[in-house]
Order: sequence, then structure tokens, then C-alpha cells
Amino acid sequence: MNQFQPLVFSGVQPTGNLHLGNYLGAIRKFVALQATNDCIYCVVDMHALTAQLVHEDLKEQTRSIAAAFIASGIDPTKHIVFNQSAVSGHAELAWIFNCVARIGWMNRMTQFKDKAGKDAEKASLGLYAYPSLMAADILLYRATHVPVGDDQKQHLELTRDIAQKFNLDFAAKIRAIGKGIDIKVGDEPVHAYFPMVEPLIDGPAPRVMSLRDGTKKMSKSDASDLSRINLMDDAETIAKKVRKAKTDADGLPSETAGLAGRPEADNLVGIYAALSDKSKADVLADFGGQQFSAFKPALADLAVEVLSPITGEMRRLMDDTAHIDAILKDGGERANARAEVTMKEVRDIVGFL
Ligand code: TRP
Repeated sequence: MNQFQPLVFSGVQPTGNLHLGNYLGAIRKFVALQATNDCIYCVVDMHALTAQLVHEDLKEQTRSIAAAFIASGIDPTKHIVFNQSAVSGHAELAWIFNCVARIGWMNRMTQFKDKAGKDAEKASLGLYAYPSLMAADILLYRATHVPVGDDQKQHLELTRDIAQKFNLDFAAKIRAIGKGIDIKVGDEPVHAYFPMVEPLIDGPAPRVMSLRDGTKKMSKSDASDLSRINLMDDAETIAKKVRKAKTDADGLPSETAGLAGRPEADNLVGIYAALSDKSKADVLADFGGQQFSAFKPALADLAVEVLSPITGEMRRLMDDTAHIDAILKDGGERANARAEVTMKEVRDIVGFL
């Protein structure tokens, strides 16, 4: 039995400032995956129109995500870094997937329900179709592995459903063009054109929570800037935010069991652990019994130590727009060359003349 060529694909939306949660949860993982995989990392600017149509500075936002990728250590020459809108295959394949996906499937997407809020009639058609475009992003390259956060798991299941339906409905055509691969889906043998993507959710990536409320995820859209550490924050701002982070009145426990029911303490220890590549137990072995007044400065120092080289490099890159644009253009051209291989075959399978 054959196998699809392993390929990692992921996307980040260019809206709002990147923060520590994005870095520890996503970008750092993207960096690590480069060593052992072929990787494509995409700034999904077309997705950015789904919730909000008019953006004041979409170009700047797109550049800043690309700058964050590169400043964090993604190598745009060995791998591909580009913006979605530069490759028209994303929109073209998304259209075909809109005709593959069923309305019943889309109606189950919890992220749509959350984002559309109470008045779903007023949400854009793009927001509704968002997961279909996301499936196209991935399958346009026939990517096999997708590092994402927990919240994107349902979208990846939809991506598999779309791939599966396409593979089954077009099975005869796929055989006819001779570009399919025999895989097993569960125990069923399938002659597949599109792979069944696997999420890469595990690993050390912690859920980084708000500094103001340990039960809410750190988020770009939180009204309080004190709730998050932005990648572009300077050392002083980082220190201030850590100092003001919400905690309870107790000191740090000596064992992880002592973090139960203490979401803010758990979050700060988790952030320290992630930034230092240690386990929470190791962190508590060092800090157990101490007060937050002692732990917070250590956490602030560590955050600054890890983030400041990235921030510095990001600022340098953002000052040289032409350089970033050239990197994205080169990535776009290389992505497009791969995408066109798929699109030629897909047009043939679907029956476009
Ligand atoms: N929906 C993803 C998010 O909000 C972003 C995204 C768009 C993406 N296309 C993708 C992630 C393809 C992985 C693969 O995080």
C-alpha cells in the first residue's frame, strides 16, 4: 500500500497582535516540525475577511505574521512561508469543496456558532464557508499533518469528511487519471486523491490562559491588553503584565496536585514550564513554598529572555517591508507551483474542460 508524501501545513490568521499563547501553542511547534518535515506555513489573509470585511492594515498584519514566523526561526528558504491570497488555487478549490460539503456538516461547526453569535442571519457567507476554505488550504497541497490548537479539531474532522466524500464520489475519475493512492480509512480500502489529514495537537504545547482570568484562553480579542503578553511587547510591558497577573492569596504548592482548582496559579506555572522547556513538576520543585511576589519577577525575566530576541528580530523585519514582501512573493510562487499540480488534476477529475 502506498502512502501520501508527508507534508505539514498550517495557517495563522492576520488579525490582531500575536501573543504568547500563539507563540507557545502554535509557532514554536511549527519551528520544531521543520527539522523532520517538509512544511508549508500560510498567513491566511482570505480568512481574515470572514468576520470583518474592511481592515485598516491587513497588509501590515500579514507582514507581521510572516515576520513572527521568521523571527521565531522558521526558515522560508527550506520551507514555504506565503500568504493565502497569492495562490488562487485556495479560492478555486474552496469553491469545489463548497459543493462537496453538506449544509448539515457546516451547521455543526461550533466555531461558526460562537463567532456568528445570536444573529447568525447577519454573519457573512464567508464566515459560514470558512471551514471549507480551510480544508482547501490543506488539501491543495495534499498535506498530511496539521499542527493546530484544540479549537480547530472540528475543522480538521470536516476536512477529512470533505476529502472522504470527494474520494468516494469521484472514485472512478480518480482511477481514470491514475493519480490516486490506495489507503485505508478505518478498515476500508479507499483509492484516495486526497489524504486523511492528521491533527498534530499533542506535544508540549500548553493552553495559555488569560492573565486576568485563568479559566479563559489568552486571546487576541480580549478587551484587556493586560490579559495577554504580545510578541511585540517590550520588556517593561511584559514585566508589568506579569506583575499585575491575577493570582490567589496562597503561595506556590510543591506538587502539581496543589494546582487543582487554582486556574491562575496553574496558568503561570504552566507558562514558566513552557518557556523553560520543563515540566510543571520541575518548576514547582524549584518554586514550591514561595510566594507569587518571588515567582512573578522570575517569570517576567524568563519571558523577556525568551521573547526579546524574537521581538527584536520581528521589529527589524517589519522595518524592511521590501524584504518581507520578497520572502512572501518567493514563497507564493513556490506554493503556487505545487498548488497548480493539484488543481490541474482536480479540474480533470471534476470534469472542467
Ligand atoms: N482556522 C485556523 C485558526 O483559526 C487558521 C487556518 C486557516 C488554518 N487555514 C488553515 C490552520 C489551515 C491550519 C490549516 O487557527
